[in-house]
Amino acid sequence: MKALTYERYGGPEVVQVTEVDPPSVGTSDTLIRVHASAVNTGDWRIRAAAFPGVLAIPGRLMFGLFRPRQQRLGSEFAGVVESVGTSAKRFKPGDRVFGMVSSGGASAAYLVISETGAVAEIPASLSFEEAAGMPFGALCALVFLGEYADLKAGQKVLIVGASGGVGAYAVQVAKALGAHVTGVAGPDSQDFVAKLGADDTIDYRRTDLETLDGGYDVVFDTFGSISPRLSRRLLVEGGLFLPLNFGMREIGAAILNSFRNRKIRLAVNEDRMNDMIRLVELIEDGKLRPVIDRVYPFEEAADAHARVESRHKRGSVVLKIVEMA
Ligand SMILES: NC(=O)c1ccc[n+]([C@@H]2O[C@H](COP(=O)([O-])OP(=O)(O)OC[C@H]3O[C@@H](n4cnc5c(N)ncnc54)[C@H](OP(=O)(O)O)[C@@H]3O)[C@@H](O)[C@H]2O)c1
Repeated sequence: MKALTYERYGGPEVVQVTEVDPPSVGTSDTLIRVHASAVNTGDWRIRAAAFPGVLAIPGRLMFGLFRPRQQRLGSEFAGVVESVGTSAKRFKPGDRVFGMVSSGGASAAYLVISETGAVAEIPASLSFEEAAGMPFGALCALVFLGEYADLKAGQKVLIVGASGGVGAYAVQVAKALGAHVTGVAGPDSQDFVAKLGADDTIDYRRTDLETLDGGYDVVFDTFGSISPRLSRRLLVEGGLFLPLNFGMREIGAAILNSFRNRKIRLAVNEDRMNDMIRLVELIEDGKLRPVIDRVYPFEEAADAHARVESRHKRGSVVLKIVEMA
């Protein structure tokens, strides 16, 4: 079968569509015929060994010190259940499913998943391409804003990187929770972020974030523009800073508890089945919609990786997977 692979860390040119052995299916496994798979910022970081901040060394230890240990790429998928193992009960052949796998290999013609993983049936309104583009950003937004921040109606949230793979879903999740949303994005993304539902937008090229007035209950920084010092000034008393990428500066701020009456939470999102189920509910309630930057043919996966690495995609970049047997 065809799969997206890489043999060494590097730029988008190291990814290639190659012929590999199909995965073996255990008794508790579910085999998916993949129709679409996204390329997200996590996939870029794994391909380039571009692990941010304090994850630089743990990332290499996890994914391979000098070269990638797991050579099959891809974490998000949408497809159709092809077959199920004798003890797998959740899905049946023919079901349309989507989700995330942390072990890689989702950008391939076939994928084996555990039915207890972050997987759910695709809402009827979504195409495979739309479904494949949602889990990475939407699960992150749901967990950080809904669970860690416990965002409440009427609270004010500042979302930095509001047009990106996480931000485009974070704006929608924050609005679904009833918050007042200020979205920070580039000059070409202002209307786009407003149409996602943001109450106010800020162009980071025209406005120095250091000059913002503040008064936010939550600051969610998906890009890395807000220092702990600045977040303290932007937050109300008891407010929470959620930086998605963090280094020693943020860890120091958390450990030294320098945020008198302000909080900081440093976390890495886990991919959980229950969050996928909540995601489906929000989609079916009309509160969350897919935001697709572009769909690329599978053979153009290197271009898709380059688009993701630009840090200017809007929402999700998706690969249309076709079996070229
Ligand atoms: N901790 C976790 O569990 C977790 C989970 C998921 C993701 N992440 C991390 O979160 C980050 C965000 O991922 P993503 O997929 O949302 O990224 P992305 O799709 O590349 O989005 C980038 C966003 O940043 C904006 N931006 C670009 N240049 C900027 C600048 N100079 N100043 C301010 N904003 C700028 C872009 O706006 P314009 O295009 O409008 O310029 C866009 O909104 C990644 O680093 C990823 O690794 C962490």
